[in-house]
Amino acid sequence: MKKARAAVILAAGKSTRMKSSRSKVLHDVGGRPMLAWVKALADDIGVSKIVCVVGEANDDVKHAAEALGMEIAIQEPQLGTGHAVLSAKDNLEGFEGTVTVLYADTPLIRPETARQVFDVLDDGADVAVLGFEAEDPGAYGRLVTDGDTLTAIVEAKEATSEQLNIKLCNSGVISAKSSDMFSALSRVTNENAKGEYYLTDVIEILRGDGRRPVAVIGNEEEVLGVNSRTDLALAEAAFQSAKRLEVMSEGVTLRDPDSVIFAFDTQIENDVEIGANVVFGPGVIVRRNSIIHPFSHLEGCEIGENVNIGPFARVRPGTIMKDGSRLGNFVETKKAVIGKDSKVNHLSYIGDAELGENVNVGAGTITCNYDGYNKHKTIIGDNAFVGTHSSLVAPVTIGEGAFLGSGGVITADVPSNALALGRAKQVNKEGWAKRYHAAQQKRKNKT
Ligand code: UD1
Ligand code: CA
Repeated sequence: MKKARAAVILAAGKSTRMKSSRSKVLHDVGGRPMLAWVKALADDIGVSKIVCVVGEANDDVKHAAEALGMEIAIQEPQLGTGHAVLSAKDNLEGFEGTVTVLYADTPLIRPETARQVFDVLDDGADVAVLGFEAEDPGAYGRLVTDGDTLTAIVEAKEATSEQLNIKLCNSGVISAKSSDMFSALSRVTNENAKGEYYLTDVIEILRGDGRRPVAVIGNEEEVLGVNSRTDLALAEAAFQSAKRLEVMSEGVTLRDPDSVIFAFDTQIENDVEIGANVVFGPGVIVRRNSIIHPFSHLEGCEIGENVNIGPFARVRPGTIMKDGSRLGNFVETKKAVIGKDSKVNHLSYIGDAELGENVNVGAGTITCNYDGYNKHKTIIGDNAFVGTHSSLVAPVTIGEGAFLGSGGVITADVPSNALALGRAKQVNKEGWAKRYHAAQQKRKNKT
């Protein structure tokens, strides 16, 4: 039978090894803070209540956890993982269901894996621990098993040399009935090598109460805990390689997979082709049959079907590329709608703009959207032709089918189908160059 589910996310530890003014759990993996990854995991596995345990001094974590909609429990001082979970006791007063402990510094656990933890509880186990086979078990807690029962978790510092040979390790994820969890935690002591209240001690205590703990096995990459910048890079690499495989399995061509960087939420439809060294920030969706050429950077944008981008394009937040449109090399866009089949092919900045269909924007065109105080909008109608090196001084509207001569500084609206020339008239002086060179030469010969 399914029971109500709550999660306690531990984030009170000091993150000294990151050497950062920001709390560890607010550092990003795949463009999303670790804390937000774990919150998303909790949501994904159907948790109805989430308590985040933070230290008194971690204001940034407190604010971030609140902004993510979590309840806060303060743990002060930090006396160990068991003590940390116990700090959430008041928040879970009267809650009847299972409590799952997650670590905010362990961002990559897949929902499928976490769901197995609940499945074994639904199938009759009383306590479930997510374990993994560690290549190098190092300082991880070891899972001592007897058949399929978990008899204890022994911290590396307390382990016998025989126990240290165990490769099966504790990820930190532990799930049990709320009443069992808090009853066991109230009996945990700090009589151990670290002088801490170990959450892991609840296994033996609950066994003593006649409960049945079991271990569920995940893989090492997803349970990687981040303590340092090196770990952060390992987590990032693990995320990127998993995401690349996922994207390719869904029918996307990556010309050089290892050089493409994705964000946690990058969405790419099938038959899209992505060149080398393309970077996706958060919030990008790319629809079918589009091509992203090498060295392009995209963030917060929606790319339609059959769109062509780059090489060397910077597509910033709020850009919407309609079907069949193009952005060429050294083009930057921001808050810009590029209409169907419209082209901005070379060396341009298009910001706070709305382009209709089939617009052609010539090389070196700039929307002058900012006056030092406010941003203003440029609107360009269907089929308009913007000559090379145009400066569009916003707010300005270019009518449908209008034609802008090259090099214009366009400060006033242009009616539909009109020609606009916003440049000084050219003056030619016959023979001037010849006279100039002769005069210069004469002077040079004198000295
Ligand atoms: C813990 C486990 C170990 C497991 C490992 C997996 C215990 C006793 N040990 O060890 O079995 O293999 O994680 O990574 O549980 N935290 C608090 N308050 C505290 C202490 C910690 O909130 O007082 C938080 C930390 O912020 C972190 C998590 O709990 O998110 C784990 O703490 P950490 O000190 O890193 O535990 P480990 O020694 O790595
Ligand atoms: Ca740790």
